[in-house]
Amino acid sequence: MPKKIDLIAAARPNFMKVAPLFHALSAQPWCEVRLVHTGQHYDANMSDAFFADFDLPKPDLHLGIGSGTHAEQTGRTLMAYEQACLADRPDWTIVVGDVNATIACALAASKLHIPVAHLEAGLRSRDRYMPEEINRILTDAIADVLWTPSIDANENLAAEGIAEQRIEFVGNIMLDTFELMRGRIESQGKRDELGLSVREYAVVTLHRPGNVDSPETLETLVEALVRLSTEVTLVFAVHPRTRNRLEQHALLERLQAASGMRLIEPQGYIDFMNLVTGAALTITDSGGMQEETTYLGIPCLTVRPTTERPITVEQGSNRLIGASELLSAAQAVLKGECCYTASRPELWDGQTAGRIVADLARRAGK
Ligand code: UD1
Repeated sequence: MPKKIDLIAAARPNFMKVAPLFHALSAQPWCEVRLVHTGQHYDANMSDAFFADFDLPKPDLHLGIGSGTHAEQTGRTLMAYEQACLADRPDWTIVVGDVNATIACALAASKLHIPVAHLEAGLRSRDRYMPEEINRILTDAIADVLWTPSIDANENLAAEGIAEQRIEFVGNIMLDTFELMRGRIESQGKRDELGLSVREYAVVTLHRPGNVDSPETLETLVEALVRLSTEVTLVFAVHPRTRNRLEQHALLERLQAASGMRLIEPQGYIDFMNLVTGAALTITDSGGMQEETTYLGIPCLTVRPTTERPITVEQGSNRLIGASELLSAAQAVLKGECCYTASRPELWDGQTAGRIVADLARRAGK
């Protein structure tokens, strides 16, 4: 009998982690994959666009969770995924990343004694103000198998007393996705469509509650971006959470009025990476972009006090900044005053899905 494996996807940053693993597992004769979408992200440009880009089939199961408070979102996912497991029990549950569905599905499965594997385990910002940090700590505490993207993650898990045999250093799956899509990213015309020239613009994304939920911080960021847009074209892909906050605080008009500002909707993966690969600079608070820019050697200013991906600062092209430093830090990058000696961290090589499949086969006795 093939092993039944549930692969859980919930929100935008999950889809690029799930895609290479879905394709690698689907090619194995010893397992059957059930793709479960919890529905945390539901807008076409936050979800469907990624399924299309990655050639992912329609999910086998859609839990329809949607938005809500953390407790509502996590609780509804916990209940819905428990029902799914009771109706059709998997042999393994694989969760990825650090969103609310990651902890909810790991918890539901583990209480039913279904082995859980966590992909992208061991990352720590040590900032419990971030909801994702709570999700990471709890998921790693209960998962049976912890697949880590970088060596610092192994060190974090060891420091938390997690047994070595539960941990496997597999590398960063995000770069598998990039390499799988590289040809399509390079030939995609999003940059041309927007009339942008390579290295003559910056890409901006901001959505963290710590940046966009406080009106003061959001205003500081908007002011800095408006001023920066007089020096370089800014392409700002506005996340739905950010758009809501900008509208609430009457800041959207200020961005719209800035002549060098290009406000665009959230993009699919291929279009967005076409923009990122040609950028002179990225300004973000996302986790994934810190990794992708390190891999590409593109300067990245991360507007956050901490990062769970310190390797992108130590070895890569990432720098953490506060909102009030944004303008001066960006100007310095554009003037070439910041030297980045970016190198690629170990096992960020596009081969992570293969290592995961081998580890899972061994653990599943296949
Ligand atoms: C979630 C993740 C975060 C990840 C981010 C990427 C958690 C705790 N956070 O944060 O780690 O970096 O996704 O996007 O899981 N909304 C829409 N359409 C959608 C999805 C959301 O309009 O398809 C709106 C919702 O109404 C909500 C807001 O955006 O008000 C935030 O969505 P939510 O999924 O709660 O959190 P994110 O900020 O996206």
